[in-house]
Amino acid sequence: MKEWTREERYKKLSDYSDDYMEELAKRVAQSPFRQHYHIQPNTGLLNDPNGFTYFDGKWHLFYQWFPMGAVHGLKHWFYLTSTDLVNWNEEGVALLPDTEYDSHGVYSGSGFVKDGQLHIMYTGNVRTEEWERVPNQIVARMEADGSFTKFLPPAIAGKPDGYTDHVRDPKVWKQHGLYYAVIGAQRTDETGTILLYRSKDALEWELMGEIDAGLPDFGFMWECPDLFEIDGKTVLLFSPQGIEPEGDRYHNIFQTGYVIADDFRMDELKLEHNGFQELDAGFDFYATQTAESPDGRRILTAWMGLPDVAYPTDSEDWAHCLTLPRELAIKDGKLIQKPVRELVALRKEKTVYDAGLLSSEKTIERNGGNCYELQLDVAFPTSADHAPVTLELCEDAANDKRFRITLDPSVKKITIDRSRCGIPFAEDFGTTRTLTVEQMDAVKLQIFVDTSSIEIFVNDGEGTFTSRVFPQAGETGLSLAAGSTIDYSLEIWELA
Ligand code: FRU
Repeated sequence: MKEWTREERYKKLSDYSDDYMEELAKRVAQSPFRQHYHIQPNTGLLNDPNGFTYFDGKWHLFYQWFPMGAVHGLKHWFYLTSTDLVNWNEEGVALLPDTEYDSHGVYSGSGFVKDGQLHIMYTGNVRTEEWERVPNQIVARMEADGSFTKFLPPAIAGKPDGYTDHVRDPKVWKQHGLYYAVIGAQRTDETGTILLYRSKDALEWELMGEIDAGLPDFGFMWECPDLFEIDGKTVLLFSPQGIEPEGDRYHNIFQTGYVIADDFRMDELKLEHNGFQELDAGFDFYATQTAESPDGRRILTAWMGLPDVAYPTDSEDWAHCLTLPRELAIKDGKLIQKPVRELVALRKEKTVYDAGLLSSEKTIERNGGNCYELQLDVAFPTSADHAPVTLELCEDAANDKRFRITLDPSVKKITIDRSRCGIPFAEDFGTTRTLTVEQMDAVKLQIFVDTSSIEIFVNDGEGTFTSRVFPQAGETGLSLAAGSTIDYSLEIWELA
């Protein structure tokens, strides 16, 4: 594996010739793990979604990008647009680390509309000669030609008193004629928190204080906060770092989750809720960002990856992708996530595999590769002894390799197991993940398989498992097995 020196990590895109970048892109395009319908970088490393906004008849979405290889080096913003959340146009690199206030990275931030123009607020990351970090929160405006005007000096320069240099990821919204921003932060006692700012013009910002979410000692840093309303309730979504595993929860290196408050009185900064809940139960999910659609839906996307974890494509000089866009709703005090309805546009031929009763193993005959949507409905007859059902994806002919999903109604749990799926990676963080499901007399799984990812939606979004997988040639098989009789139906759509 290539070792990147600091000098290499902080070289600018302009230090590389177009020919060099083209060669790199050609090489990356040869990778067997390139996705078909997920947003991924043509070269280098993608991380957080940024600036996700609907404006002027289309969706604008950016991502954190280090162009030259699969390492967290000098970050840029890469820009895409879409009219349907399915087909994305690559607009190219949009923000460069080209000022003294963002010299070491254009870090994460969000989009908002002001005076009929798309604006963004992001964290300019600076390193001093002594390699000390200085965070700056910078506002920029998109001009008609797509270029950005950065308003400098920064709207918020450096860190406020009481916090370390980990202050970043502003998420802006407008409410009652004022602009607000939540920003992730670390207190000087090295605990994570979120700061709330407000502004009349989105240029001069006043610190209102910390949001008191009743979690005074919950990890060492909270990244990528987001605050929005659904059905009159306030949702605070963030990615805390430094949470220890607890039962089936918190097994990834870092978490993403939320709290829901009936009522958030912003002037009191107090957010009362029934506890932090993890948003996704899979292996690879972090740094979410949401946007509101013109018809009032709250749409979420996330980085399908995690910091400080090595992935199999690192040696190919590219890494990661974004999740599919999902619509959020609140049900029984929980956030539920459904794939956005626009995604049906990806569907091609549908095959219905003879449904009915099943009490043994069934191989699903199919010619396609790992690019499909699968829907499995299982009903467990109440008289049966409720033996588990397993669905295996990415199987090889010898039945040695597979991604296994186990539904166990006796304990009301669903477990995914990637221990024998494709190229193993991140095994230090465990090879299974488990979710408890309230209702298991009948279970519905909607699964999106792309070349190197599996996204599972349980019972219409009541739970999700989002994971990267790296199956190799021929590992495309599927089978369903029931230990006792179940009633099932299974449908597969090939996807464009
Ligand atoms: C989250 C994060 C953000 C930061 C960005 C830098 O993954 O660490 O906090 O702004 O990535 O790329």
